[in-house]
Order: sequence, then structure tokens, then C-alpha cells
Amino acid sequence: MTDHVTPDVAPLAEYQNGICMAGAGGARPDLPITPDAMEARAREVLDAEAFGYVAGGAGSEDTMRANREAFRRWRIVPRMLVDVQHRDLSVDMLGARLPAPVLLAPIGVQGILRPDDARRAIDHGADAIVVSNHGGRQVDGAIAALDALPDVVEAVGGIVPVLFDSGIRTGADAFKAIALGARAVLLGRPYAWGLAVGGQRGIEHVLRSFLAELDLTLALSGYASVADVDRDALRRI
Ligand SMILES: Cc1cc2nc3c(=O)[nH]c(=O)nc-3n(C[C@H](O)[C@H](O)[C@H](O)COP(=O)(O)O)c2cc1C
Repeated sequence: MTDHVTPDVAPLAEYQNGICMAGAGGARPDLPITPDAMEARAREVLDAEAFGYVAGGAGSEDTMRANREAFRRWRIVPRMLVDVQHRDLSVDMLGARLPAPVLLAPIGVQGILRPDDARRAIDHGADAIVVSNHGGRQVDGAIAALDALPDVVEAVGGIVPVLFDSGIRTGADAFKAIALGARAVLLGRPYAWGLAVGGQRGIEHVLRSFLAELDLTLALSGYASVADVDRDALRRI
């Protein structure tokens, strides 16, 4: 039998390993691990109006659903025979080096979905472009943000970094958006659920779980660095 070498997934993935090891010893984590479970817990602790305000999308919520469905159409094609022992998740962003390609979505950003808007924004001096449909909260029936990403990335042509949000829930989602040309991704509702469930610790838990997943996805897909992840990592089905 061929030797199977499990990649070293420390340090970021260590967060999930710790929870799994504790679980093997019978300890249940007090905060949910998956985004869906975190949302379900938030629904329990928030009053219905507050939960509905954060969870909801525009109109029939068609665009909000489309955001998630778009991720399912892109599948990761893991590659083998790559040394992924040490991984680098850092990226350059507006003159700074981010330790990981993940930010929290601010309130009040202007989301871009069209290549011509992206070019106009650059002509007007924009330092970066955020591809976003505001988490499906604006135009019901609008294109899924992920479906808009490749054309905007092409139009921007590397002149400024392209960030992405709307529908990012897992590390695999971040991997896919980066493979399609995003420099970094922003999380919206997931950190709001973390805040509702556990305050600052809840947000930290959401972020650490998310980064652990992204790190693990990189390692098991055969990428030592987020900077190396490109379209070859994906297949559209
Ligand atoms: C409760 C809430 C309020 C938001 N308010 C704004 C806003 O005022 N302006 C804006 O551009 N985006 C707003 N957004 C959109 C976020 O900035 C971000 O684009 C979106 O949440 C990302 O999608 P996701 O929630 O699926 O991760 C809001 C999102 C939520 C959940």
C-alpha cells in the first residue's frame, strides 16, 4: 500500500483540530461550528424582528439564494504531489500585508457587479473594487455576486485589487472566490451571528473556524499559498 502523508495543517487549522480532539474526549464545544448551526443559534437568542432584519434578503430572496447556488456550481479540483507542509495565507492589500484574505464586511460599501462600472470606478480613482450584491439585500433577481466576479476581474485587469462578498459561508467558498480572481473576501451575516451568539468571542470563533477551514482547504487541495490559487483549481459543473 502507498504511504499516505497527511499534510501538517497547523497553525490555523489547529483551531478545528483542537475542537475535534476535545470532542473525542467527550467535550462539546459551547459555540456552534458550522455557519448554519451558528445561524440557528442566533435565531434562538435574537428576537424575531432582529433576526429577520439580518437574515433577510430583498423581495422573494431569489438573489440571496442565487448567491449560495453559484458557489455549488464551481467545484474544487484538488491537486496532489505538492508540498503543502507550510502554508501562507497572506495577501497584499492597499499597501498592507493582510495575514489572511478575509475581512469583515462594513456597512455602507458600494457593491460592483458590472465590468463597465468597475472600469468607471477605477477611472474615478477607486483603489479597489468590491464585487457584491449586498448579500442579496438590494435588487431581487440580481445576478449572483460570484457569477459577476470573473467578468469584473477581467475588466479590472489587475490594476487594483478586487474584493468579493455575498454568500461566503465556508473556507471552500473563500477558496473559490479567490480562484476566480478575488484578492480577499468579506464576511457579512456569519459574523453578525457570531456577535449575537457570543459577543466578541463569538466573532473570534466564527473567524477562527472560517480561517481553519480555508487553511485546510488549501492544504488538501494542494496549494501552499493563497497567491497560487487560480482558475485551474476549479471546474464549473
Ligand atoms: C444587517 C445588514 C446590514 C447591511 N447594511 C448594508 C449597508 O447599509 N450598505 C451596504 O452597502 N451593505 C450593507 N450590507 C451588506 C454587507 O456589507 C455585505 O455586502 C453582505 O452582508 C455580504 O453578504 P453575506 O451576508 O451573504 O456575507 C448589510 C448586510 C447586513 C447583513
